[in-house]
Amino acid sequence: MAIFLDTANVDEIRKYHEMGIIRGVTTNPTILSKEGITGGMLGLRKRLIEIAKLISPLPLFVEVTTNDIDRMREQALDFAKWTDNINVKMAIHGPEGELENLRVIHELETKHDVRINVTAMMSAQQCFLATMAGATYVSIFGGRVNNMGYNVCGEISRLRRLLDSFDLKSNIIVGSTREVLNVVEWLNAGAHIVTVTPDLIQGMLVHPYSKETIQMFLRDGQNILST
Ligand code: E4P
Repeated sequence: MAIFLDTANVDEIRKYHEMGIIRGVTTNPTILSKEGITGGMLGLRKRLIEIAKLISPLPLFVEVTTNDIDRMREQALDFAKWTDNINVKMAIHGPEGELENLRVIHELETKHDVRINVTAMMSAQQCFLATMAGATYVSIFGGRVNNMGYNVCGEISRLRRLLDSFDLKSNIIVGSTREVLNVVEWLNAGAHIVTVTPDLIQGMLVHPYSKETIQMFLRDGQNILST
């Protein structure tokens, strides 16, 4: 699956989708709020359906905006009906460590056939429990883990070994990318997917020495044609 795009900016999504280099799009409330979307839930719905249709059948991930357990379930069921390719993101636990989230995640995956991406995780052990609850996707926040002073690669490779040895089917998404080198590094460590901001994809793609080389070829091509 490899690379997802971590944005709600339609122009950026269209640009990289047309190149064929992304396999899905992740959003979260912070990303959506940075886009300046107005109109409450109706405004959000409009933007998210626009993105979902643009990338269909690739998956779009939409996060619930509440910590009330009944409202979370309601939102998840609602989002999943908007289009066939919308999957739902839910945090591993509540803001104070409340434990109900995995119960709802388990219920949505097993009884309602809603694909859940469990988010805001910082360790292999959190991801492993989310996997046991039935989450189709488990998201570990690589940049944030690295910022705490330890290397997320260890968590990714330990998690991948556990999933493979117990034949568990969750897909590991590593988000919170901060540097261009994170993408290949985290995929090599065992991530199934790394979700990347548009500026980092551009950083992966464009290399100053490639620019110089291409300029040389074009210059010499012109010289040949003009002699
Ligand atoms: C991915 O799904 C996450 O929402 C995202 O990568 C979080 O990144 P941040 O640490 O930049 O907020």
